[in-house]
Amino acid sequence: MNKSPNVVFQAGNVTRAQRIAATGHEGLTVWLTGLSGSGKSTVAVALEQQLVAAGVPAYLLDGDNLRHGLNGDLGFDAASRNENVRRAGEVAVLFADAGIVAIVPLISPYRADRDRVRARHAELGLRFVEVFVDTPIELCEQRDVKGLYAKARAGEITGFTGIDDPYQAPEHAELVLTPGPTAEEGAAAIVELLNL
Ligand code: ADX
Repeated sequence: MNKSPNVVFQAGNVTRAQRIAATGHEGLTVWLTGLSGSGKSTVAVALEQQLVAAGVPAYLLDGDNLRHGLNGDLGFDAASRNENVRRAGEVAVLFADAGIVAIVPLISPYRADRDRVRARHAELGLRFVEVFVDTPIELCEQRDVKGLYAKARAGEITGFTGIDDPYQAPEHAELVLTPGPTAEEGAAAIVELLNL
C-alpha cells in the first residue's frame, strides 16, 4: 500500500556504472534466512569480515540490531514480521544500489515476504542471493544461545518461530548451509558463490 500517491520519483545524475567504478564493485544483497539460533548472524559476521578484508565494501544489517532502531516499533506477529522484512529489504536495496554488499541475516519466516524482497531486487536489476541456514530446530534448541527456546517452551514467549509460529523453508535458495562446517567455512562458500 502506498500512502504517498502525489510524490514523484526524483532521479539522480549518477549511473550504476559510475557507482561501480567508484567503489570498484557491484552492490548486491546476501539474505540469510533460518531459525533463531541457526547461526545466520555468525555466518553473516564472518562474511562481512571476509569481504571487507578482500577489499569488497560490505555492510551487515543484522535483524536483531535493526530491531533496536529502524524496526524497533515492530513485534513478531505475521504483519510485523512482514513489515520487518520489507524494511530490511528496502534498506538492502539502497546499499546494493550504492555499490555495497548488503548482508541481511533475518529469520524472515514467510516465503512470500522473502520472495517480495527478491522481486524488488530483480525490478531494480540488483543481485539477490538467498542463503538458507538449514539448522534443524533440535540443534537450535539445544544450543539456545539466548535462552529463548526455553522461554518459549515454558510459555513465557508465545509465537516463537519453530515452536508455535511457522517457518517456511526456501525452495530455491542459491545456497543451503547445513551444520558441520564452521561459520568461516560457510562464509567462504558464500564468497565463492558471489564470485566478485
Ligand atoms: S523476523 O521473523 O521478523 O525475521 P528477526 O530476525 O527480525 O525475526 O528477529 C528475530 C530475533 O528476535 C531472534 O533472533 C530472537 O532473538 C528474537 N525473538 C524474540 N521473540 C521472537 C519470536 N517470537 N520469534 C522469533 N524470534 C524472536
